[in-house]
Amino acid sequence: MNKKIVTVSIIGLGGRGGEAYGRYMSLLKDKFRITHICDINRTRLDKYGEIFEVPAENRFDDEDSFFEKKWSDLLFIATQDRMHVRMAKKALELGYDIVLEKPISDSVEELQELTKLAHEKNRKVIVCHVLRYTVFMKKLKELLNAGEIGRLVSIDQTENVVYWHEAHSYVRGNWRNTDVAVPMIMAKCCHDLDLIQDFAGSRCKSVSSMGSLFYFKPENKPEGAADRCLSCKYVNTCVYSAKRIYVEMWKNVGGPENEGPFNLITDVCPLTEDALMQAIKEGPYGRCVFNCDNNVVDNQTVIMQFENGVTATLKMEAFVKQGGRDIRFFGTEGELNLCEAEGTITLKKYFGNDTVWRLTDLTDDLEGHGGGDHRIIEYIYGVMTGEIESLTTSIDNSVESHYMALAAEESRINGGQLVELTKFRK
Ligand SMILES: NC(=O)c1ccc[n+]([C@@H]2O[C@H](COP(=O)([O-])OP(=O)(O)OC[C@H]3O[C@@H](n4cnc5c(N)ncnc54)[C@H](O)[C@@H]3O)[C@@H](O)[C@H]2O)c1
Repeated sequence: MNKKIVTVSIIGLGGRGGEAYGRYMSLLKDKFRITHICDINRTRLDKYGEIFEVPAENRFDDEDSFFEKKWSDLLFIATQDRMHVRMAKKALELGYDIVLEKPISDSVEELQELTKLAHEKNRKVIVCHVLRYTVFMKKLKELLNAGEIGRLVSIDQTENVVYWHEAHSYVRGNWRNTDVAVPMIMAKCCHDLDLIQDFAGSRCKSVSSMGSLFYFKPENKPEGAADRCLSCKYVNTCVYSAKRIYVEMWKNVGGPENEGPFNLITDVCPLTEDALMQAIKEGPYGRCVFNCDNNVVDNQTVIMQFENGVTATLKMEAFVKQGGRDIRFFGTEGELNLCEAEGTITLKKYFGNDTVWRLTDLTDDLEGHGGGDHRIIEYIYGVMTGEIESLTTSIDNSVESHYMALAAEESRINGGQLVELTKFRK
């Protein structure tokens, strides 16, 4: 029997819509066909149009004509944060099922409005909390559910953002300022908050949070530093020098043809040193990190209490060398740890030997959010063909993590004041 081919349109062909989901779906020719695409950036539109084999007449560079009618079974919305709800509403009105990049929105009204509309239109809205689909998060959940550490008492999670990633996304890049993006605790950590509430097995009751923009501000600019890295006397010594991050680091990893974060600052592919130099000479990624229009935090800690009594802390930290999440679960009969950087899960029962699983033994795909970017696509196929019924990251499940992020931001702004989650729920 022939397999069903799910037809797909994509709006927003950047790091996510183009490079992550689009590229992967274009390889799964027995499952997906990308029929229509939209991006205001003509270079990207044509680049991915060619890669995904989308006919020229099905490439749109304006949102209005793209949303004139429904083109496919499914629509991926992978534009910037503040466009998601506007586009999702248009898509639901047209009758699309949607895959929606996180974050959905940082407005409670919009979160509720979109959830209501999805129900009214009886459409699927799958939110890209991709970490839920990784093999290692599933393993942790399985061990917790099996009672391997007894009753779960508390969770301690760290999202190691990494110094250069902070500079790239949250100082120079798209998520630097809350005028154009959601607060960093939502942008970077609605994944973490989503995982924590899932692990806790209960809704969050209350939140307290502290954090600040500690370092990336004008008063920390070294004496005599220029406004752009290439004309700065510290270009070869500053830890955050664009030349060191985008050119030296690219060379140190072997000068790959197409790899992040290098492919996010230029559309030239395959990448070249000249293209990277050009991008930092003229573009936003060549700006001094102490002289940008950034206002989001570079460190934040959130303390949470859940309705079932479990407590949790989440630390979002820019100032680290190596990325990945560290999670520790404390139970009445043992401990469970994930260290993504080391690539291990360790179960420490109070009596008996420790058990260690290497992530590479659990899966051979740890690419893109630990394999989550690929696995969500397989899962979406299952949902669209009816093989999978329940939506793990449905809009109903996903708004909870957004409420937690909103509560954390409100608390942080108010000096750590306790914020109850009930106020966000209808
Ligand atoms: N799930 C995850 O783990 C994850 C990871 C990173 C980013 N994200 C989220 O994914 C979204 C996209 O991020 P990205 O890194 O791909 O950003 P990006 O800036 O690389 O891509 C966004 C694209 O949208 C296009 N665009 C802007 N306005 C448009 C319009 N009106 N119509 C059509 N296209 C338009 C831009 O030209 C750009 O190509 C963001 O909301 C981000 O927060 C999610």
